[in-house]
Amino acid sequence: MNSASSPNADLLSRSLRSVWHPCTQMKHHEQLPLVPIARGDGAWLYDFEGKRYLDAISSWWVNLFGHANQRINAALTGQLDSLAHVILAGFTHEPVVRLSERLSALTGLSHCFYGSDGASAVEIALKMSFHYWKNSGQPGKRDFVSLKNGYHGETLGALSVTDVPLFRDTYAALLRQGTQLPSPDWRGARPGENADDVAVRALNALEVHLAAEHERTAAVIVEPLVQAAGGMAMHHPRFLLGARTLCDRYGVHFIADEIAVGFGRTGTFLACEQAGIRPDFVCLSKGITGGYLPLSVTMTSDDIYRAFYDDDMARGFLHSHSYTGNALACRAALAVLDIFEEDDVIAANRIKSARISARCRKIAGHPRIRHFRNAGMIWAFDVETRDALFPRKFYRAALQRGLLLRPLGNTVYFMPPYIIEDEQVEMLVAGTCALLDTVE
Ligand SMILES: Cc1ncc(COP(=O)(O)O)c(C=O)c1O
Repeated sequence: MNSASSPNADLLSRSLRSVWHPCTQMKHHEQLPLVPIARGDGAWLYDFEGKRYLDAISSWWVNLFGHANQRINAALTGQLDSLAHVILAGFTHEPVVRLSERLSALTGLSHCFYGSDGASAVEIALKMSFHYWKNSGQPGKRDFVSLKNGYHGETLGALSVTDVPLFRDTYAALLRQGTQLPSPDWRGARPGENADDVAVRALNALEVHLAAEHERTAAVIVEPLVQAAGGMAMHHPRFLLGARTLCDRYGVHFIADEIAVGFGRTGTFLACEQAGIRPDFVCLSKGITGGYLPLSVTMTSDDIYRAFYDDDMARGFLHSHSYTGNALACRAALAVLDIFEEDDVIAANRIKSARISARCRKIAGHPRIRHFRNAGMIWAFDVETRDALFPRKFYRAALQRGLLLRPLGNTVYFMPPYIIEDEQVEMLVAGTCALLDTVE
């Protein structure tokens, strides 16, 4: 334990006095100590006394290639000598142009609009969709369809299309009314159904809704393949293909929120590739800078872009954030794309994912586990428990074993940096099995 004067203890008490930590009931820290971090190295995080934690959730799903990655560090150091930031209204710079060109080549969507965080990318997609229809003479198309159990961020627009009661209910009075339709989550399969059947059922509900409401509907927003914050709920790619087809049939935009699943997380650069579809809008963030700097982007097609291109100022998209297209963040993102190319990360992850899945068999066979599931570099399973405090107890016990794991309700998941090594996976699996045996 920390002595009163240790660097760990000192930072903890200063943090509790001055920092309002995110997604936290601060009073819980009377019992559950903050974890002070002095430095990171690969998949490890170290406190000031050398205790280390395996970052099995990539620090909220952002860190792809490890902490203190030499290649990203070098790119940032080089960029610092020339330009950290410049206003992006009226000005431009090399990193933002190169990044936009490369993202467009990877996604097939030709225009990039930058924000700072995932939620801002979602806000931008929602506003752009509505504004597109308004510019196209259909201002009545202003409703958004989202899925049960979906999560798109915490700002008011993003929260309006989010369905996680813990985050949403308190602010319900501030949110826009929208339509939430059944999730294709395959855990909802009825006897005799498979994942594909669940997807078809969800598509039927979407079709019924769009047939009746398409004139009022601007867009459908979806987390492709994995509804992450809602509990790593996974669905069949058939749902994405069907949803794209219905959006085309009824003249409604398809927004792919790939903030958690993009950048290779589900096994392809974009999760949507597994359904062979191109969305009207793609939102990216999290892994985009390898977990270094806040950056998000909303990408869209030339058709949509053209609807804003006009002599009339008000037909333009006048949204902005001060740090839009920050040069350092874009340079980090370029370094991330270099790593994808140079190391053929998508192919390497395919092999690594199979190896990790094989090691996880011990967990999948544990008697307390239900619905063991995997998509690319995400593994998740539901734990039988009657204790509402299970997530906090599991989190705490995991930390004591040197594992950073943050269950979502009774769902435990691994979303490690792609550079995780075999021995680290071994430690993660053995530690998790021990936790399953001990945490009620
Ligand atoms: C799918 C998805 N969309 C949006 C967000 C919001 O991103 P941010 O926390 O960067 O605002 C998240 C964050 O977890 C997410 O998983």
